[in-house]
Amino acid sequence: MNQEKTKTALISGIAGQDGSYLAELLLNKGYDVHGIIRWDSVFLTERIDHLYKDPHIHGVRLHLHYGDMTDTGSIERLIKEIKPDEIYHLAAMSHVRVSFDMPEYTCNTDALGTLRILEAIKNSGLPIKFYMAASSEMFGSSPPPQNEKTPFHPRSPYACAKVFSYHITRLYREAYNIFACNGILFNHEGTRRGPTFVTRKITRGVASIKAGLDEKLYMGNLEAKRDWGLTQEYVVVMHLMLQQEKADDYVIATGESHSVKEFLEKAFNYAGLGDWQKYVETDPRYFRPAEAENLVGDISKAKEKLNWQPKIKFDELIKIMIDADFRKLKLTPPGEGDKILKEKFSDKWWKVD
Ligand code: GDD
Repeated sequence: MNQEKTKTALISGIAGQDGSYLAELLLNKGYDVHGIIRWDSVFLTERIDHLYKDPHIHGVRLHLHYGDMTDTGSIERLIKEIKPDEIYHLAAMSHVRVSFDMPEYTCNTDALGTLRILEAIKNSGLPIKFYMAASSEMFGSSPPPQNEKTPFHPRSPYACAKVFSYHITRLYREAYNIFACNGILFNHEGTRRGPTFVTRKITRGVASIKAGLDEKLYMGNLEAKRDWGLTQEYVVVMHLMLQQEKADDYVIATGESHSVKEFLEKAFNYAGLGDWQKYVETDPRYFRPAEAENLVGDISKAKEKLNWQPKIKFDELIKIMIDADFRKLKLTPPGEGDKILKEKFSDKWWKVD
């Protein structure tokens, strides 16, 4: 284990894609990690089950707490009790399409949730460092490439809520001297990505068609362009931001822009299925009333100030995700993705799915 000074972190949204990897990273660095999970009548903790240990065992370093971004009391109580050194605020209703169906819930959770945490930090008087998961969606229809100086033009209720969160985080930094950073992350994907986001929907769909379980894949806007990276690399930079001397905001991306259509083409080819057009149909239900058409990040600032840049780009990401989804269906993966992970990350701190 790579021991740093023992610190305590609190992660909102620990059971999500980013939260699960971040928890793994911080535990590996010797942190005590507390995570907030939402209550449900079924367990929603599949992504962190491999990290969880019975709390009755001595020396357990992962602690889970029920809480909710809409519940001020639970947020204040947890911060008071845990007294974290660092808070990583990842909890959100993160599906852009769904935010059009549930705009009020989305803004309550994603915008006011951030304010509730910041108020609790301010009122605690503790020197807590705060990471806010902002989003490339905030740029919306602003022309690419987008960087920290690009004006926001949000195109969904989700994006509007994130713009509020971005500004309230900056304001609390300036007004109350809280060490608060916005990570403006572009799309980040991987084998723990939820199945309704486009990359995972495609890689799962491809594996399912290959296994003979499905015949078609129904998709929305194929022309939209995104900048897709690997999540593990992006959670590393969340931690890095809070270790700097000064709190600041950073764009995190790969710098490459590709369309959903290109993703389909490469994924079907890599899986040995040939022409994607034989399998894909569009369904209006997956289109959005307004769309961010072309998002691609300019990471000059992160490169210079954080010395960060990603190893995994578009082609490699697809191979990594397809290999994993093949394995999940007991298919033999083509194997290039597994090889890439092995070659590029000699000391993996995460569980490979
Ligand atoms: N989900 C989905 N399903 N998207 C589709 C589909 C489909 O069937 N067909 C086409 N798309 C297009 C969407 O219209 C969008 O332009 C693009 O694929 C990516 O969609 P998502 O994967 O749902 O991600 P997103 O870009 O809207 O938002 C994600 O990335 C943001 C930036 O990091 C989410 O993770 C956000 O929470 C995050 O902030």
